[in-house]
Amino acid sequence: MKKSPESTTLVFLSMTSQRLSSVPASPIRKLVPYATAAKKAGVKVYHFNIGDPDIKTPEVMLQVLRDWDRNPVGYSQSQGEPSLLESLKIYYHGLGAIFLDTSHLQVTIGGSEAISWALFAVADPGDEIIVFEPFYANYNTYAAVNGVQLVPIPTNLSDGFHLPAQSVIEGKITKKTKAILYCNPNNPTGTVYSKSEIETLVALAKKHGLFLLSDEVYREFTYDGARQVSLLSFMQEIPEHAIVLDSLSKRYSVCGARIGALISLNQDIMAGVLRIGQGRLSAGLIDQLMAAKLTKVPVSYFQEVHDEYEKRRDVLYEGLRHIPGVTIPKPEGAFYAIVGLPVEDAEHFCQWLLTDFRDPSPSADGSGQAETVMVAPAAGFYATPGKGKNEVRIAYVLSIPDIIRCIDILTKALNAYHP
Ligand SMILES: Cc1ncc(COP(=O)(O)O)c(C=O)c1O
Repeated sequence: MKKSPESTTLVFLSMTSQRLSSVPASPIRKLVPYATAAKKAGVKVYHFNIGDPDIKTPEVMLQVLRDWDRNPVGYSQSQGEPSLLESLKIYYHGLGAIFLDTSHLQVTIGGSEAISWALFAVADPGDEIIVFEPFYANYNTYAAVNGVQLVPIPTNLSDGFHLPAQSVIEGKITKKTKAILYCNPNNPTGTVYSKSEIETLVALAKKHGLFLLSDEVYREFTYDGARQVSLLSFMQEIPEHAIVLDSLSKRYSVCGARIGALISLNQDIMAGVLRIGQGRLSAGLIDQLMAAKLTKVPVSYFQEVHDEYEKRRDVLYEGLRHIPGVTIPKPEGAFYAIVGLPVEDAEHFCQWLLTDFRDPSPSADGSGQAETVMVAPAAGFYATPGKGKNEVRIAYVLSIPDIIRCIDILTKALNAYHP
């Protein structure tokens, strides 16, 4: 008997692993088809949903592409291209971690690969890793791929999503707990943890023999004169347990170059991740040679980028906090904010923005083009069912005029939204 297309699909689905079905869709990307449909219909969609910086990549990195003359384009070394490892070492020494040498560094394909490998390296299937929710949604992906259980500890909008007391964290540690994974400065909350918060985590790692995984891809993005307290400063205190996860994506606006790093003094970890690296051969040669120029990026580049993001943060915060029913703690770093909205179901609201809400452009050209805004429903950044239901995550990687326009659209949309 001939199978209908539906039954073929069913047979195919039943053949896949259970792990595959446990991998969630990204809350940041899952509404993309609605945005695509809106754009096809001629609507301008402002992307307030994804942290893909609009700031220019440093010229010195782009010049590598312009000057490219290697033929063929071969593999690189599995640990990383020597010139990039050397540049990374210089960069970390500049942060004070002069005890690091290149044997403590593993180049990865983005911070994403560093995080996924770290989970694989510290936990077996069924083991637990503590995270603070809301957390970077893709941690769910890496955990599902590695069969690891994330154990979320809530943090709250009312106190700027800072960490709970040591006893609360300790209460979640079980025999299966292998690590604490945190992100500082934080995506999605914009929180920058204080020195004493990091000290608490270090103390817990020491006391319970846990790995401490610190995702520091937004290290330089801290505002109001604050500075990030890196786990690098505590690495010698817990040499076997500290792992720093890093990325060049945001720091140098090179998301498309896919370069990150895993840093640890633990020799077993480094030898193990190198074996994984050998299995995937190498990170991209072109990407790494671009990235190796990081030591040549002028200091002024960082200052300008930093100042621009801080101004954007101010515009966003001031603009949103005056909208009735909207709650936003002042983001302290990174380029994200979790925003509470006066709606019951933020996911429905986010979808409705893309499918139904249109505001004519006020632009001087008089085109009156229909416009809307895309934001990410925050529930996907929580592991606890029901949490974050009335929240969205905003990424302020747009120019200041565009941020102002987005706030205008959101204000009008909230007034017009009657589900
Ligand atoms: C907190 C955090 N960690 C890691 C990453 C991974 O970035 P990449 O793989 O581009 O380095 C991101 C990207 O948005 C992020 O926000």
